[in-house]
Amino acid sequence: MSEGKPGLDLAIVGGTVVDGSGRSSFRADVGVAGDRIVSVGKLREDARRTIDASTLVVAPGFIDVHTHDDLAVVRSPRLEFKVMQGVTTGVVGNCGMGVAPVSPAYRRYYETFLASALGEGADFTWRTIAEYYEAVERAGPSLNVACLVPHGLLRLAVMGMEPRPPSGSELAQMKDLLEEALAAGGIGLSSGLVYPPGIFATTAELIELCRVVASHGGLYASHIRDEGERLLEAVGEAIRIGEEAGVAVEISHHKASGQTNWGKVAQSLRLIEEARSRGLDVTVDVYPYTAGSTVLGMVVAGASRDEVNPDEILIASVPGHPELEGKTLEELGQLKGMPPLEAARSLLQEDPSVVAIMFSMAEEDVRRVMRHPAAMFGSDGLPSTGGKPHPRLYGTFARVLGTYVRQEKVLALEEAIHKMTALPAAKHRLTGRGQVALGYYADLTVFDPASVADLATYQEPRRHPAGIRYVIVNGEVVVDNGRHTGEAAGSILRSGRPARPD
Ligand code: ZN
Ligand code: CU
Repeated sequence: MSEGKPGLDLAIVGGTVVDGSGRSSFRADVGVAGDRIVSVGKLREDARRTIDASTLVVAPGFIDVHTHDDLAVVRSPRLEFKVMQGVTTGVVGNCGMGVAPVSPAYRRYYETFLASALGEGADFTWRTIAEYYEAVERAGPSLNVACLVPHGLLRLAVMGMEPRPPSGSELAQMKDLLEEALAAGGIGLSSGLVYPPGIFATTAELIELCRVVASHGGLYASHIRDEGERLLEAVGEAIRIGEEAGVAVEISHHKASGQTNWGKVAQSLRLIEEARSRGLDVTVDVYPYTAGSTVLGMVVAGASRDEVNPDEILIASVPGHPELEGKTLEELGQLKGMPPLEAARSLLQEDPSVVAIMFSMAEEDVRRVMRHPAAMFGSDGLPSTGGKPHPRLYGTFARVLGTYVRQEKVLALEEAIHKMTALPAAKHRLTGRGQVALGYYADLTVFDPASVADLATYQEPRRHPAGIRYVIVNGEVVVDNGRHTGEAAGSILRSGRPARPD
């Protein structure tokens, strides 16, 4: 941009621009040179390529703040399931789990727990986050990747699966590891306080670690301790961590789980508003579905608390038994001639990596959360290579635009786009991203507002959405008229720093 007016590489002409800021849409051409947006308005220069967007919306590329694509970006870097939704940046390392830093204790943890969430097929050639970034860059992902430092991995590296608070020197070692990872560009710390080893963490431990995060200007993203009975206490803990450590907080996949808890998000959102009015930067993310998904072992473990209705739990993936995928626990019980929970336990003995889908939320709660000004979107998809994953993996962003904007009018288009772009970019300090504006990186999604829709269902989850026409990452066309081009256009986004030197 400094060498005078270059010719354009790409002109997107005649579109309706929804620029991400939340303001009303307007008609404008968008010009791209190199990896930047260099004009928004009436274009006069020639371009090497022109896209006619006269019936289309031109928006910033979507930012998926809650992904588990840590390994997928290395294993299958085209990431079709994500890019085809219009996502141009994914945040990995969520829920306290991930793939770096890797310690000697890690391999067993991965094999017994993580493989089902993050997908098979890892050969860990890296150790630190910096080395993981190199592996991602070598693989050449089609979208940008930002990484949270998973608390579970810090704990695992220093104290294994010990079910107790860390000693002073253990906590000091965890802080050193965190410091190193943040210095390498990690954008914050994530926790998963329902999964081992995160479940053993004390509030004091998390506050201490978050002080390190605060000193780097990062954020604390948490899968909080309870999303059911004790939802409000768990939100309270996240807020307390934020206030005592002076760190920005993101509450992951915000929900009230279990019928007896439906409606509680009204109160949890009030707690969040109060904290915001005291000056804490606390936001939430949400996926647009009433079902969640996690490893079946976690669901069955919660069964003692009487939250499980076997009719409302689907088996998503069982590597050894594809014939069971898509069945409910009720049906599994009938097949095995056992009570459903017993059948689930016996299946888990055979294969602990089974993933489940639970219909545990109220539609009204999902809408209430997504309408809240502090809410953004995160798919929380589990990128398994087999089975019937939760349709959020393929459908999240198109579902918001098709179902909740066009059909149900829960959100205005400008509001929905803001929650997918500028809001998460600011929160996650992805500098120069998330808006259609001069000088911003050319991460753009061009879609048809009349036909955009998710097509992924619980029984047929591996279907790309309709209506997403062009996806541009760092100025390169990654989806061209609905087709993935294979372009390896993504960069690693390190906290607060531009992706590439100018
Ligand atoms: Zn989670
Ligand atoms: Cu998650």
